[in-house]
Amino acid sequence: MINKMGLENDILRVLLTEEQIQAKVKELGERISRDYAGKNPLLVCILRGAVPFYADLCKHIDDYMEMDFMAVSSYEDGMTSHGIVRIKKDLDVSIENRHVLIVEDIMDSGNTLNHLTRLLGTRNPASLRIVCLLDKPERRTCEITPDYFGFIVPDEFVVGYGLDYADAYRNLPYIGVLKKGVYSNED
Ligand code: IMP
Ligand code: MG
Repeated sequence: MINKMGLENDILRVLLTEEQIQAKVKELGERISRDYAGKNPLLVCILRGAVPFYADLCKHIDDYMEMDFMAVSSYEDGMTSHGIVRIKKDLDVSIENRHVLIVEDIMDSGNTLNHLTRLLGTRNPASLRIVCLLDKPERRTCEITPDYFGFIVPDEFVVGYGLDYADAYRNLPYIGVLKKGVYSNED
């Protein structure tokens, strides 16, 4: 269910402002530029949540790089999170001998990126790393950590800057906590 009370009105509090996000994305882009200098990395955007982060991050990579896109969905068994990841859209290019950097919005249980890195690892990339804007380590159920992350966030459901609830809120320029009343009948 979703009780919409107005885009801004549905947000309980802002967790990360647009300014904080933009400063961090610039810092990450500069670090990645240094680490991948001369390597022509392939930055893989995980659709759709990573789109705003990906677009901003790529603008701070000041060397040759290439773009490709993947869409995945996790199949959950009830409330647990060892779901199987299904590829809805695969990469268009071969990653053999390429330096691949997966760009994702958030690492939560770690399940999605755990499956994805295993799958892409079988295609013989020269290297394979992950950058996530947000990391929620308290929720982790797999042994995986992002190689680069922007912010650690508490175990709360966040939306905005690509992150959605029922496909809404991705267009907010900041990241906020959703009011409980939006997704349940409690206040
Ligand atoms: P994981 O496989 O449990 O690490 O989940 C990763 C995916 O769950 C992310 O790509 C998001 O789409 C979604 N997700 C996890 N936490 C949040 C959140 O707080 N807000 C919105 N989406 C989330
Ligand atoms: Mg996502």
